[in-house]
Amino acid sequence: MSVIRILFLGDIVGEPGRKAVIDQLPILKQMESLEFIIVNGENAAGGKGITPRIAIDLLRAGAAVITTGDHVWDQPEIVDYFPTEPRLLRPLNYPDGTPGCGSVVLETPKGRVAVVQVQGRSFIQPPLENPFLAAEKEAARLRADGVTAIIVDMHAETTSEKIAMGRLLDGKVSAVLGTHTHVQTADDSIFPGGTGYLTDAGMCGPEESILGRSIESVVWRFKSSMPTRFPIAKGPVRLCGAILDVDMETGACLAIRRLSLLLADRAAGTPG
Ligand SMILES: [Fe+2]
Ligand SMILES: [Fe+2]
Repeated sequence: MSVIRILFLGDIVGEPGRKAVIDQLPILKQMESLEFIIVNGENAAGGKGITPRIAIDLLRAGAAVITTGDHVWDQPEIVDYFPTEPRLLRPLNYPDGTPGCGSVVLETPKGRVAVVQVQGRSFIQPPLENPFLAAEKEAARLRADGVTAIIVDMHAETTSEKIAMGRLLDGKVSAVLGTHTHVQTADDSIFPGGTGYLTDAGMCGPEESILGRSIESVVWRFKSSMPTRFPIAKGPVRLCGAILDVDMETGACLAIRRLSLLLADRAAGTPG
């Protein structure tokens, strides 16, 4: 049996998050025998979107694919970069003609791996096409093309919408992993059809924060109801995600394990 080990990292937040990811990916790759790495980069540029430069840095550090989400267009220069870089994804369920793609298939020594991203529609903007129909159709297309290992990033706000996506795609894809809410959930599981599932992979960003932003600014916003800026928080970073073992013949997820790693000393690259 041929098995591939895949790392999926949740939303990378700002400079602290992306520096920690870039520092740690080569170490993690070796320590965990990783063969394919997917990262969500929608908050990598100061919390708002991703720039071409940051995408290049993440790919060079070892990411095979970068997914995004509702913040995908926050940095205007990314629009023209999309057609040049198929390994950078935006949600699949944008209207036809939108720059970029929501799905990519890459060759690996173990065979082809597909990554698909969809965005939910509950409490999240902008309103996109139906993600359930889009994901189901894309999974069927990929499988008809002979791709078995298919990882789906479900970028959504509500747990129900994410679980529904996981259940819909059970037996049709290798894993459905949630992003956007930045708080890792503890419901990692393998559904009866063989699909690995986790409602929220969590974020890669400062531990002492509110979703990666400074605690004081967010608390002040809620107390005052006044508009304000939310600077990226400082301090030690936690990397969150999941490690999956996928059977390349059937596409089934054989194991899913949450990763939650507090980096005590980022400069020294020492996990703590
Ligand atoms: Fe995010
Ligand atoms: Fe998001």
